[in-house]
Amino acid sequence: MEKIIINGGLSLNGSIHISGSKNAALPIMASCILTDDELQLSNVPNLNDILTMSKVLSSLGVKVNEEDISDNKITLQYFDSSKSIAEYDLVRKMRASILVLGPLLARKREATVSLPGGCAIGARPVDIHINALQNLGAEFTLDQGYIKCKASKGLVGCRIELPKISVGASESIIMAATLAQGESEIKNIAIEPEVIDLIDCLKLMGATIEMNGERTIMIQGVDQLHGASHVIIPDRIETLTYTIAGLMNAENLLIKGINVKHVKNVLDILHKLNLDLSVVDNEISTKKSFIEEGLEIDTCEYPGFPTDLQAQIMVLMSLGKKKSVIRENIFENRFMHVPELNRMGANIEISGAKAIIHPCENFFGAQVMATDLRASVSLVLAGLVAKGETQLNRIYHLDRGYERIERKLQTCGADIKRVQ
Ligand code: EPZ
Repeated sequence: MEKIIINGGLSLNGSIHISGSKNAALPIMASCILTDDELQLSNVPNLNDILTMSKVLSSLGVKVNEEDISDNKITLQYFDSSKSIAEYDLVRKMRASILVLGPLLARKREATVSLPGGCAIGARPVDIHINALQNLGAEFTLDQGYIKCKASKGLVGCRIELPKISVGASESIIMAATLAQGESEIKNIAIEPEVIDLIDCLKLMGATIEMNGERTIMIQGVDQLHGASHVIIPDRIETLTYTIAGLMNAENLLIKGINVKHVKNVLDILHKLNLDLSVVDNEISTKKSFIEEGLEIDTCEYPGFPTDLQAQIMVLMSLGKKKSVIRENIFENRFMHVPELNRMGANIEISGAKAIIHPCENFFGAQVMATDLRASVSLVLAGLVAKGETQLNRIYHLDRGYERIERKLQTCGADIKRVQ
């Protein structure tokens, strides 16, 4: 079993280039089912989740050319519509596999996808996906852990207001509606940059989609979509993760290849704290600085503070001068990093959905365990400043979302290595 060893305390100095966004690439890869033509993607991060989505798509009749994945390129072409079952042993590895449901329904008028099941951070139901697709005319049954659905007369455009803002459910219904008969008006959609990147790619493929108000989208169904070439947006969570690493322990860390619009919401919060960071074009420059005042954060849907950055900001808050508070409003169990951080010297109390972060002098190296993608990177952040050695186990969680993390940090002077 691989693990990561960090000897903390060394300042970061140098530059890190941000990879493409995992959470944009995954739905966009699934959208290849909507056309018979080739979908060429670049700036795709070379991550385990991308390889898992490739396997799911291959099992559904997509030819996936991932020879160039080391160059962050991937080409997909849906050519065999005889298959329509996304198997449990693949889907259980990655919940985002549910994103093939909408495209399969739109193209094949039927689909069988294993229920993804929960994960460490919560139950992760898919009821909003199913309800939305039912409004487009799909009929669903649940059978031995599989979602079986069909739309024998094809999907028909609808007017729907999603009962709750959901990134994945928004992506499912948007993809399905592009090939539905007639117009769809979908209200209360998620507007994360990853959803917008999917919309941009679908429009390149010939979909007729227009935003009509902040969270309302109008889609005119078309008979078919064509191929396209699309560059995946930079990963905003990776951008902000390394920004926090710099604020914790950098002489001068340059973060390159970012999309500043996508991270402005969080940078505005950090700017108000007089932290040492500046933004020029698509680069962030950060230096070690401390949060002087207590910070109170609520995670919420974009453009609010992202839940995917909650574990990371908690580490920065721990080194602050005053008590801070985070309320996790998106997922029901996303504090698993707290016991591990406390074992490294943090002083964080949990009360329901609220975490109270008391200042701690420093972190101390320890053997810690990753539990989910973002929790694991918060342990890396703590290890980079901790006195002594930190051993991080179960790093497959980390490899799902952070491309070459130890190499990116090594080039900036961190003493971090991957060992068997
Ligand atoms: C996406 O997950 C991201 N994953 C998550 O990133 C991210 O944390 C999340 O959005 C919130 O921003 C991908 O894009 C692949 P949701 P998703 O549907 O789509 C509830 C990471 O670290 N809900 O917006 O699954 C749900 O339980 C991952 O990269 C329902 O109740 O998130 C949650 O409480 C982790 N029914 C809330 O809505 C549904 O049908 C928001 O979930 C769907 C969701």
